[in-house]
Amino acid sequence: MSKINYVDKNGTFELKNPEHTSGLYLPMASKKGLKSAVTPDFGGDAKTDQNHFMIAPKSILNLSNDRDTRNFFLVMEEKLWSVTGVSAEQEANRFTDKEDSAKLTAGRMWQRVERNHTSGRLKSTTTIFDTLDHNAEIMLVTIENLSDENLVFEPVAAIPLYGRSADNLRDHRHVTSLLNRAVITDDGVVMHPTLSFDERGHQKNDMSYFVFGRDENGNKPNRFIADVEDYLGAGGTFLRPRSLLDKKGQDTIWKKPTEAIDGKEIVAVLRFPKCSLKKSESCSFQIVTGMVDDENIAEMDIIRRLIYSKTQVENLFETTKNYWNSVADIIFETGNERFDGFMKWVSFQPELRRIFGCSFLPHHDYGRGGRGWRDLWQDCLALLLTDPTQVRDMLVNNFKGVRLDGTNATIIGDKKGEFKADRNGIPRVWMDHGFWPFLTVKLYMDQTGDLDILNEKVSYFKDALINRVTKRDEEHSKEYGLEQKNAKGEVYKGTILEHILLENLCAFYDVGAHNEIRLLNADWNDALDMAPDRGESVAFTCGYAGNLKELATYLRIYKAKTGRSKVSILKELLILLEEDSILVYGNPAKRRKVLEKYVQAVSGEILGETVLVEIEKISVLLEHKADFMMKQIREEEWVTDKEGNGWFNGYYDNNGARVEGDFENGVRMMLTGQVFSIMSGTAKKESVASIVKSCDKYLYKKGLGGYALNTDFKELRLDLGRMFGFAYGEKENGAVFSHMAVMYANALYKRGFVKEGYKAINELFMASDNFEISNIYPGVPEYFNEKGKGLYSYLTGAASWYLLTMVTEVFGVRGNAGDLYIEPKLLKEQFNEEGIAVIQVPFRGHRFKVVFKNTKHKDYGEYSISNVIIDSTSKVKPQKNQVIIPEKLLIDWNEKNHIVEIELK
Ligand code: G1P
Repeated sequence: MSKINYVDKNGTFELKNPEHTSGLYLPMASKKGLKSAVTPDFGGDAKTDQNHFMIAPKSILNLSNDRDTRNFFLVMEEKLWSVTGVSAEQEANRFTDKEDSAKLTAGRMWQRVERNHTSGRLKSTTTIFDTLDHNAEIMLVTIENLSDENLVFEPVAAIPLYGRSADNLRDHRHVTSLLNRAVITDDGVVMHPTLSFDERGHQKNDMSYFVFGRDENGNKPNRFIADVEDYLGAGGTFLRPRSLLDKKGQDTIWKKPTEAIDGKEIVAVLRFPKCSLKKSESCSFQIVTGMVDDENIAEMDIIRRLIYSKTQVENLFETTKNYWNSVADIIFETGNERFDGFMKWVSFQPELRRIFGCSFLPHHDYGRGGRGWRDLWQDCLALLLTDPTQVRDMLVNNFKGVRLDGTNATIIGDKKGEFKADRNGIPRVWMDHGFWPFLTVKLYMDQTGDLDILNEKVSYFKDALINRVTKRDEEHSKEYGLEQKNAKGEVYKGTILEHILLENLCAFYDVGAHNEIRLLNADWNDALDMAPDRGESVAFTCGYAGNLKELATYLRIYKAKTGRSKVSILKELLILLEEDSILVYGNPAKRRKVLEKYVQAVSGEILGETVLVEIEKISVLLEHKADFMMKQIREEEWVTDKEGNGWFNGYYDNNGARVEGDFENGVRMMLTGQVFSIMSGTAKKESVASIVKSCDKYLYKKGLGGYALNTDFKELRLDLGRMFGFAYGEKENGAVFSHMAVMYANALYKRGFVKEGYKAINELFMASDNFEISNIYPGVPEYFNEKGKGLYSYLTGAASWYLLTMVTEVFGVRGNAGDLYIEPKLLKEQFNEEGIAVIQVPFRGHRFKVVFKNTKHKDYGEYSISNVIIDSTSKVKPQKNQVIIPEKLLIDWNEKNHIVEIELK
């Protein structure tokens, strides 16, 4: 039995004695840019970006040990008691019979900790959340006297303010403290550093950081400290700040409004007048910690006023909770309430990654914000299911990052459609990048019926990197800008179809010695980054082959839906498209020549001429290429162990040697190649069955998350990638890497291997839910290590894929070029005791509650659909396993909320 218990349908959960587990953290954010992390003892940090950390950055390694946390002490008879549990005495009493009892309750973007003093005399309840509309965190602390006697204490809030760049954590930490200027106000501390320190060019700082406090009646604190040295005192610590205990020197340490503190590390210490609570009485304190820039300095007063009363804070809290609960509101009701609660978090995770990017949570202590190219596209997958309205714009803008040579910008700006030139001079190409955009556009077309997006025109990215990032265009100037121009100097715009075509076709020709697409600087697996010369990724060769095939299909649907038989494409693209000779396809050197010819043609000035091509012709040419790739992989890349178990080799290393197979020191197998060969249709049905057997034999770790990324190669592979430098079982070296494991499940479901798919996806849930071992809050983490511990919580593409698989495969509610298809692949155990399973999802402006009734408790494969009732009437006839609600009906329906009851017999 896990220690985490769900308490409502929003995924809110409880955990007793949360400080008994290390490394727990919860994300909180405002809509305006504040990103916070909070631990059960109110540690963690808060920032708007790399250069503006309001509370000093915390990494997973110091998260549970650094004691400069958000704190609130009660000073009682020369003793300190912290409502967050962070005092020397409380820590010393942990795990003894003198320990406080504590209970954490947490939901999307908020947490509450109730703490009972070990004596039983008092109880505190501390709630924290980020406000929606301001960059501010609010803490609400309530103290209750549980004893028969009067409870007398002095309440003191202590919130450390860092107020500078994460880079200064070590680089000039002390020097940057000299820039700090703090001033005491009548209700708190405001800090406005003089400069933003950067040796490449110091900037005048324009950000104020502040902490204000009030009690429930709006009364202010009356004494303050802002200097960390004063607060701690000689030999004091954050667990035992001497200023709160000593009588000595008190007059000079405690400051009054208008006093200034210059050049110090800052902690906002707000001391309220002494409180006396009679039996059963309680009192509350509201603390706000925030930041505003000079331009919006008036907002500081608005924020300050938020905490004037307790009721106001409580109302704000309710609004905030409701807002986040309404985001990504897909509801699952299966036979397992724990799973339904888990899914509330999984469906929220893509939103978290939209906000946090791949940086800014304690495990994600890298990067300077933003997301990578493939993450950008995959996060859209979940958004397409939850809130497709905003996605069209996003997709169209994302395509502006593609270069005419099929590569793309890798530095993504903060604004939509903003891409930046290579900043750090490391020219790199991840060979999988061209694969993802079509996958997302395909889902977009399915979910919305808007195939016309293919015809939308957008610009191309142009920077100094040319020839698929192998050369620099020394003439490229700032004045030229970052958009590709034509010979007339106008920005050239091509259709989205053209962008997709050239991304996939360039990849098709960029092959290595084995005629598989070159690995270049890595593929999906970022850690396969040491085989740029001779490495090849068979895994993504499968992926691209699948893309070309599906693109052919969607082009035909486009033709049928729009009535257009031709599309216009850039003339130069014909070089890649029209080549249709097996002799060329079969010869790596000839194939690369075609690419060289094209790249040459688009590297310099382009005329920007377009030609009209028959859609059917394009489809056929794409299919020829796809078929060629698949056939070759089937013939050349199948490997077996000594017992004849087979799977596909996924890679070649930098010596041009095959990576997977049965070698002298053991079997080497990787999951990625299996996923993409299954998903793309490269693996025929018999091969899928064989792959499943091999995966079970070599990669499956029961109870530890399921399918690992690879077997133990037992050697450092300088000819393949940094992953082999990681300990086996961690991150990309053999961990159960959720993203690939869930894509494995998705691929299996797609191919009708339902039980096998369920096994893969369910193991991830089971491992996450096994709190004693996973040590994580609900959600799917980036990976589970060899011991089943979950790492890198929240910010992972795995969540998008988990949600996608649950909605479109398991419950089978999915768009098909705009029609709604319902094709359940639910197993017996996924229904409740009455044989009911429910999903609530939005689709094309409607909200559907789909109720599957399996009253005979049959398993997948045994049941078929017997009856469908939509809004109490029979509107559509089911086929054997599928219900189709055509686009036309959806457009005609005025009523937007529907109940679809599907009886299975
Ligand atoms: C992370 C990266 C992703 C990359 C993967 C494997 O995975 O964000 O781009 O493909 O590592 O190297 P994720 O965050 O999706 O779990």
